[in-house]
This record gives sequence, C-alpha cells and structure tokens, in this order.
Amino acid sequence: RTICRYTIILSALAVFFHGKPCGIPVLALLIGADTGEYDAESSMDELSELAKTAGAEELARVLQKREAYEPATVIGEGKLAEVKELCGSLGAELLIFDCELTASQIRNVEDETDVRVIDRTMLILDIFAGRAVSREGKLQVELAQLKYRLPRLMGIGASLSRLGGGIGTRGPGETQLETDRRHIRRRIDKLSAELKELEERRGYARDRRKKDSVQVGAIVGYTNAGKSTLLNLLTGADVLAEDKLFATLDPTSRAIELPDGRSLLLVDTVGLIRRLPHHLVEAFKSTLEEAACADIIIHVCDVSDPEAAEKADVTLKTLADLGAAEIPVVTVLNKCDLLTENIPEDDSTVKISAKKAQGIDRLLQVVAANLPETAKRMKLLLPYDKAGFTAKLRENGKVFTEEYTETGVLVDAIAAWPASTSGRRQAARCRVSRTTRRPKSRKERGEPP
Ligand code: GTP
Repeated sequence: RTICRYTIILSALAVFFHGKPCGIPVLALLIGADTGEYDAESSMDELSELAKTAGAEELARVLQKREAYEPATVIGEGKLAEVKELCGSLGAELLIFDCELTASQIRNVEDETDVRVIDRTMLILDIFAGRAVSREGKLQVELAQLKYRLPRLMGIGASLSRLGGGIGTRGPGETQLETDRRHIRRRIDKLSAELKELEERRGYARDRRKKDSVQVGAIVGYTNAGKSTLLNLLTGADVLAEDKLFATLDPTSRAIELPDGRSLLLVDTVGLIRRLPHHLVEAFKSTLEEAACADIIIHVCDVSDPEAAEKADVTLKTLADLGAAEIPVVTVLNKCDLLTENIPEDDSTVKISAKKAQGIDRLLQVVAANLPETAKRMKLLLPYDKAGFTAKLRENGKVFTEEYTETGVLVDAIAAWPASTSGRRQAARCRVSRTTRRPKSRKERGEPP
C-alpha cells in the first residue's frame, strides 16, 4: 500500500512538472533542412522512429530544401511561420530538429513558436537515458548529456521554464541544469574520473579473459537488426528485444560452445545508427571497444530492410573508425523468414532467422571456421636452463601441471599468444587504448622474440 501511495504521489509530481502523465505520447512536429549533404528523407524516417521510441507522437513533418542552413533558425523565415501555424492548429508540444542546434538557434525558434525545441542528438541521448541499465551505461549517458548541454544552457534554460513533455529532459534532471556552469563542470570531472576507473576495470577483465584463453565474439549491427534476439537464442539469455531503436544499450555477455569444442564469449553491443553524432561514438567508445578488442565480429543485418546495404556500410564504417577493421567478420543476414527471394551465402555469410531459430547450426560452424586460433593447449619439455619460461606461460596463459623430470620441466599449459600479426596488433591496440603509455616491446618484457 505504501508503494502504491508513493507511486501515485510520484505520478502526480511527474504530471505537475512535465505536464503529461508517463505513457501519454508527446505531440511532436519533425523538422529538417535538406541541403543535399545526405539523404534527408530517410534521415527523417529514422528521426520518426527515434521519436516513437522516445515516446513522441509524430503530428507532421516539415522538410525544407535549402542551399545551406539558415544561421539563426536552420529553416527560413517563411517556413518557420508555417511551423508556428502548424503548432497552433495541431497542438504540437515539441519541435524535433533532424540536425544539431546551437543555443541561439534553440532560443530563436522557441521565441518564435513558443514551443519547446530539441535536436536529433538530444533525442538520442534521451532514449539512451531511459535505456541505460548498468552503472557504466548510466554514467556514460549522463556525461554525454552534460557535455552536450553545457554550451547550450542558454537555449535549453529557456525551454526548461516552459511546461511540456519530458522528452529531452530525462537524465541528469532540470534542477542540475539550472545550477551554474561551474557545478556542471565539476560534475563532468567527477563522472569522467569514475568512468575512467570503470574502463580500467573493464580492461583488466579483458586481460583476464585473454589470459584464461576466453575468445570473444562481438555481436554488432544497426539498431533493430535483431542482435538481442540472436544473443537470446544462442545463449538463452534474457536480453530485452523490442521493435524499438536502442532496446539494448549496455553490453551483455554470455558464453556459448562452438561445434569444434571451443567456447566463445558473446558480447551484445549498442545498436548503430546513421549520422550517429561523433561525440556519441566517443561517449560509448568504452562500450564499443568490446567490439574493437573482440576475436571475431558477428555483424547482424536485417535483410528484410530495403536499406540493408546502406545500413551495413554504416556499421562497417563505425567499426573501421574504432580500429576494428582487421578483425574477421561473419555477416549474418537475419530476418530471412520475411524474404521471398533466395540470397546467396558464402564462407563468411550466413542467412538466418533469429526469431524462427533457422540457420543457427550453420552460423555456429561458420563462426568456428572464421575464429582465429589464438590459444593452444600444449605439453612442453623445458630444459632446466629455460625453466623461467613457465612464469611467462603463467602470465600469458594457464599452466595446469608442472612435472620435474630428469631432462627438464614438463609443462601442460594453454598458451594464449595472438596467432596472427593482426591479432598481435589488435592486442596492442586494446592495451594502448586503455593506457596512454606505450606498450613495452617483447625485448623490454623479457619475452622470446
Ligand atoms: P537494438 O537494441 O535497438 O540495437 O536492437 P537489436 O538489434 O538488439 O534488435 P532486437 O533483437 O531487439 O530485435 C528487433 C525486432 O526485430 C524485434 O521485434 C524482434 O522480434 C524482431 N526480429 C529479430 N529477429 C527476427 C527475425 O529473424 N525475423 C523477424 N521477422 N523478426 C525478427
């Protein structure tokens, strides 16, 4: 009864502060300027999906063809007057722009229309804020929000004084944003320090996995491609799979066994998206780094999507930006149950339906065939003058038994040396990305060449 009472009080407070009870969609107009730089129509379609995911109802779209953005208001004066009229006639509570806005642009448009304004990045961050589960995810979102809002405080400050829907205001909260910049900077420093610590811990966990010869497969792909559905199917995990963008934000990992007996730790990563602002890629770098440090990438594509090829390019480009271009990739053509035509497969391409559990056996075989052998169990007879090498084996692998014989030490161990040059480079990159220090050379580490 007490919980019920608190829930009612909290809902009443939410209605009072946001003007809307939770669950009731915010009525929004989507606005864009088409300067020919990218496919504005598809970008608006994606903005519409994002708005839906954030809990907004799209009333109408306004897309203006222009040579360049109008510096003060992005769209021209006449178009803005049209938007103002639409706001009045349709009862819009929120304007969502399909580009990044400056503080003065937000203020100018709000002054003209008297409706709250947010941009594409604020919308994505708002979705992230509602979806982050782990401590690291929450810290990353809050940090990204504060960094994005700090230079826009003037514009956003005006919007916070108006009552409207909650979209674009979730996360660190209004009270914090109303406090002075110095306070926000202090909070940014604190969050950055906490995140650094968590990143280091994640790095140690990665080292431990390498040491224990655990190989990692990162499931990557465009948002809504079916990554979580596939992870759930392969591992029996209970990861949220929804027909909404960014259903999963935090990396989830589960182990599976491959047909050749090796075990693979599968990591689900944040869904990618076209025009994902650069600072958001930066903000989630430590999460995406799981992909950059994986032994194999499982790239899930939604083949039923007419824009599948273009979206696959976005994923591959983001992976290349993260320095993961050299890691072997298995391309998974998912949702083939929705296709009528036959599409070809090859040594590294598999078609499946994660929802209907079709094509999974072949997927596991292809993953095993493409997964590099980075660790081997072996028995070594080390002459006594080379017995110190067991310490190196312990450091870089796992020693099961040591037997002292007449001719030397007989060691049963798993040695986890990266097999290929690309593997060695990858291992070095993971180390470099965690510490600013240069990794020691083999000679400096006293390892054999
Ligand atoms: P994000 O978390 O946004 O990155 O999404 P995701 O890639 O993890 O996608 P998710 O697994 O949440 O699936 C998105 C939607 O696609 C859900 O509604 C799934 O039920 C549906 N889906 C996934 N796989 C299949 C499939 O093989 N066939 C069909 N028809 N639908 C699928």
